[in-house]
Amino acid sequence: MAINKVMVIGAGQMGAGIAQVCAQSGYEVILNDVSEEALEKGTKGIEKQLARSVAKERITENEKKETLSRLSTSTQLEDAGSCDMVIEAVVENMDVKTKVFGDLDTIAPAHAILASNTSSLPITEIAAATNRPDQVIGMHFMNPVPVMKLVEIIRGLQTSEETYKVVEDMAVQLSKTPVEVKDFPGFVSNRILMPMINEAIFAVYEGVASPEDIDTVMKLGTNHPMGPLTLADFIGLDTCLYIMEVLHDGFGDSKYRPCPLLRKYVKAGWLGKKSGRGFYQYQ
Ligand code: CAA
Ligand code: NAD
Repeated sequence: MAINKVMVIGAGQMGAGIAQVCAQSGYEVILNDVSEEALEKGTKGIEKQLARSVAKERITENEKKETLSRLSTSTQLEDAGSCDMVIEAVVENMDVKTKVFGDLDTIAPAHAILASNTSSLPITEIAAATNRPDQVIGMHFMNPVPVMKLVEIIRGLQTSEETYKVVEDMAVQLSKTPVEVKDFPGFVSNRILMPMINEAIFAVYEGVASPEDIDTVMKLGTNHPMGPLTLADFIGLDTCLYIMEVLHDGFGDSKYRPCPLLRKYVKAGWLGKKSGRGFYQYQ
C-alpha cells in the first residue's frame, strides 16, 4: 500500500517534529491540533528548523520551500478523510487517545493506517477503540524528532503483518532506524529511561544532591548528553508522570511509584521547558 498523504494529530513538540520529517521526506502532510495557537507555534518552529538547515547548507532554499509547500494545517479532524496514514501525537492520556481513534475510525478511508506516537500506553487498548485493530500500530518517535534516529514500532495484539511492513518501510523512508517492540507498558525506551529519571527526582526529593549536581554526575560520570533532570524538563514533566503512572499501573510493581516531587511539580504547573519552569527555570 502506498502512503502519500499523512495527517499528524497534535502540533506539540513531537507532532511538529513528526510533521517536519514527513514533509522533508516527500509526504503531503496535514498538521492537526485543537488549538490554533499550537498550530502557529508548531509551524513557526518547523520554519525555524528548516531555515537553520539552509544556513548550515544541509538543504537548499528551494528544498525548504518545497517542504513547506507540502505542509498544511487544520483544526478539523474530518480532514483525515483524504489521508492514507494518521500519526497521533496528542497528550499521553488513554481517554483522549481512544476518543481520537474512535473518531478517526469513522473519518479516515478504509485503507488508512492509524498510528500512535504514545510513549507508553497499550496499543492493543487504543486499537480496541476502532473497528480496524489490524490497521492500528505504535510508531514511537524520540525527541527531538529531526535529530533522533530511532522509531520503536509496536505491534498491538491484532496488528497485521501488512500494517507492520508499511510502517517499517515508512520509518526507513524518514531516514530512521525502526526497532520492533512488543506491546508492554513503556515499550523498551521508557521502561528503561523513565525509572532512571524518576530515581533522579527521588534523589532531589531526598536531598542527596542539587539538580545541577545530579545532572553533572550523569553527564560527566556516565557520558549522557543531557542530565536526567534536564532531560525530564525537555520531555515535559506531565509526560514523565503519565509514563510512570502507566508503568506503575501496568506492572503493578511499587518500583515504578512516581516520585511525590514529580506529582507536586505537575500539580503546580511546572511542566519543564514548555511551561518555563521545571527543575530549572527557562527564559
Ligand atoms: N529540534 C531539532 N533539532 C535540534 C533540536 C530540536 N529541538 N535540538 C537540537 N537540535 C539539533 C541542533 O540543531 C544541532 O544540530 P547541528 O549540530 O547539526 O546544528 C544538534 O541537534 C545538536 O544540538 P546542540 O549542539 O545545540 O546541542 P547538543 O549537542 O546538546 O544536542 C540533543 C542536543 C541532540 C538534544 C542532545 O542533548 C541529546 O541527545 N539529548 C538527549 C535526547 C534524548 O535522550 N531524547 C530522547 C528523549 S525520550 C523520548 O523521546 C521518548 C519519550 O517517549 C519520552
Ligand atoms: P505536547 O503537550 O507538547 O503537545 C500535545 C498537543 O496535542 C498540544 O498541542 C495539544 O493542543 C494537542 N491536543 C490535545 N488534545 C488534542 C486532540 N484531541 N486533538 C488534536 N490535538 C490535541 O506533547 P508532546 O510532548 O508532543 O507529546 C505528545 C505525545 O507524544 C504523547 O503521547 C507523548 O507521550 C508522546 N511522546 C512524547 C515525547 C517527549 O519527549 N515529549 C517523546 C516521545 C513520545
